[in-house]
Amino acid sequence: MCGIVAYVGGRQAYPVILKGLKRLEYRGYDSSGVALLDEELAVYKKKGKVAALEDSLVGKALQSRIGIGHTRWATHGEPSDRNAHPHLSASGKLAMIHNGIIENYAQLKQELLKKGYVFHSDTDTEVLLNFIDDIRENNHCSVEEAVRIALKRVVGAYVIVILDRDHPDTLIAARKGSPLVIGIGKGEHFLASDASPIIEYTKEVVYINDYELAIIRPDELILKNLGNETITPYVQKLDLELAAIEKGGFDHFMIKEIFEQPHTIFDCLRGRLELEQGRIRMKGVEEHMDRLMKADRIIIVACGTSWHAGLVAEYLFEELCRIPVEVEYASEFRYRNPVIRPGDVIIAISQSGETADTLVAIEKAKEQGALIFGVLNVVGSSIARASHAGAYTHAGPEIGVASTKAFTAQLAVLTMMAIKLGMEKGSIDAVRARHLLSELAEIPEKVRQLLENTEDIKRIALKYSKARDFLYLGRGYNFPVALEGALKLKEISYIHAEGYPAAEMKHGPIALVDDQLPVVFIATRDAYHEKIISNIQEIKARRGKVIAVVSEGDMVIPQMADDVIFVPSADEVVAPLLSVIPMQLLAYHIGVELGLDVDKPRNLAKSVTVE
Ligand code: G6P
Repeated sequence: MCGIVAYVGGRQAYPVILKGLKRLEYRGYDSSGVALLDEELAVYKKKGKVAALEDSLVGKALQSRIGIGHTRWATHGEPSDRNAHPHLSASGKLAMIHNGIIENYAQLKQELLKKGYVFHSDTDTEVLLNFIDDIRENNHCSVEEAVRIALKRVVGAYVIVILDRDHPDTLIAARKGSPLVIGIGKGEHFLASDASPIIEYTKEVVYINDYELAIIRPDELILKNLGNETITPYVQKLDLELAAIEKGGFDHFMIKEIFEQPHTIFDCLRGRLELEQGRIRMKGVEEHMDRLMKADRIIIVACGTSWHAGLVAEYLFEELCRIPVEVEYASEFRYRNPVIRPGDVIIAISQSGETADTLVAIEKAKEQGALIFGVLNVVGSSIARASHAGAYTHAGPEIGVASTKAFTAQLAVLTMMAIKLGMEKGSIDAVRARHLLSELAEIPEKVRQLLENTEDIKRIALKYSKARDFLYLGRGYNFPVALEGALKLKEISYIHAEGYPAAEMKHGPIALVDDQLPVVFIATRDAYHEKIISNIQEIKARRGKVIAVVSEGDMVIPQMADDVIFVPSADEVVAPLLSVIPMQLLAYHIGVELGLDVDKPRNLAKSVTVE
C-alpha cells in the first residue's frame, strides 16, 4: 500500500525514481510525487497516476543526484495534490515520504497545533514529519537523532524516507511493519518498497527490519536500531529477472499473468512432486512433520484472494488429512481474542507476504505457541520472516492488482501439502494418493489446453458486459471458486457480483433472479453434480441467464445453460486449479470491454500494508 522509491548516487535521480514509481504503481495510484534536491529542495506532486506527474513535469530541468518519490493509496485524506507525498516540513528543511499509518497522529497533531504549527494536508505523514522536525529544532540534534526520538512515540506502521536540505548526500530511512529494500550499487543506493525498481541496477540488496533506521549516502549504508546500536547489514542476492516484471507483448499484466499459469503451476510443482517415486518433497513440511501430523487444528489466516485459496484448503485438509480446519479473515482474527492452543498450526497465505492484517495475526498466534507456516509468493517478505516454516509458491512477480497466477500457485502448494500430510498420516490410501499426484501433475498441461481457446469466454464477456449484477454459484471445492469469480469481476469491472454456495442461494440471492441476471455456475463434474443440476433448474425456472463452467464431455448441463465454458476433466480435489481460470478471463474481458484499467482498478492496491 503506497510505493516508495529513493535514490542517492551519481545518476540523475528523477528518471530513476520515475521508472521506479511506475513499477510500484500496483501499490496505489491515487497520487504521486517526487522531491529533488539540487540548489533548492523542490517538491512536485500530482493527483492521479504516475503518468499525470510525468506529464506535469515535461520540459522542467530536474537536476538532482538525490531524491525521493511516492505513489499513494489514500488513507488519511482524499486523493488530491495537497495530500500527495512527499510532504515538506514547516521549516522547509525536510521532505518525507511515508507508507503506512500513524495511529496516534491525532494526538501528535494536537501537540503541534498548540505550538502553532499549520498543516497543509489532511495526512498523518505531514504530522509525523513536523513532529520529527520539531524535535530536531528543539533538541538541536541531527535528523537521525530526531527520527529515533520521534519513533519511540509513534504508534502504527511505517516506512519513512527523509531528504534533508542541509545534507544533500544523505537519506534517512526507518521501518516498522511496512517493507523497505535497499539496493547497493557502486557509489549509489536505491531504496524501494520492493525489489522491482532496483533489479536493473543491482542484484545486491538489504532488507530493512522493523525498528531499524538507515543512513544512506552514495558510498555508505549505516544501519542502526532505535537504541542507536549499529547493525551489520545482511546483503542478499536478488533472484529476479527484469523480463519477469515487464508485459512481454501482452496488453496488460493481468492477461500476461493469466497466460503464465501453465508455467507458474509447473514451477511450483517442480522439484516437489515426484510422480515416479509417488511422493512429494516439501522441505518446510518435512522439517515440522511431527507437529503438523499431530496438529489438533489448522487455522488458516489470509485476506482477499488468498483467503479464497484458504477456503479450498479447508476442503483439502479436512478430506485428505482429517484435521479440523478454520479459515479466518486475518483482520477479524487478530482482534477477536481467538482461542489458540500450542497444538494449533497456523497457515498464513499471502501473495505479497506484506499484508498488515495477516502479519499481525500470525504474530499474535506465535506469541501463544502455535506453529506458523507461510504459503507465500514473495521471497524474504515480512510474513516469510515472521513464519517458523513455509513453502514459496514460485509464481514470480505478480503485478496486475487482481491476483491470478498467485492464486493457482497457492492452490498447488496447499494441495501438495494436504496430499503429503494425508499420505504421512495414512488418512488417504496409496492408490488414492497416486491418483491425486498424477492428477496434480497433469494440471499445467490442462491449463495450457484451456488457454488455447478462449474465444467462447470472450464472446460471453461481450454478451454480458452491460449486466448490472452477477451471481456466482458453486458447491464443494468449487464454492470458493465462485467467491473468487465474483471478487475478480467486482475488482476489474466494478459490476456488483456475489459468490454463494449453490444450495444456499435459495435462502436469499434467489430473490435477485430475473431474466436480466447472469448466474455463473461452476459445475465441473464432482460428487455434487446431480445437486448442482437441480440448482441450475431452479435458476432457469426463474428465467435467469445461466453461464455454466462444465467438464469436457458433460452432455447434460449444456442442454440447460444459456452459455457454456468447457474445462478439461479432473478429479474434484484439483478442479479449482482449472475452473478458476475462466473466472479470471471472464472478469478480464468484461473489464477490457468496458474500457477500464484492468491492471490498476480504482481504489484498490496490491499490497495492503495498512490494516
Ligand atoms: C489486496 C489485493 C488482492 C489480494 C489481497 C491479499 O486486496 O488486491 O489481490 O488477494 O490484497 O493480499 P496478499 O498479498 O496477502 O495475498
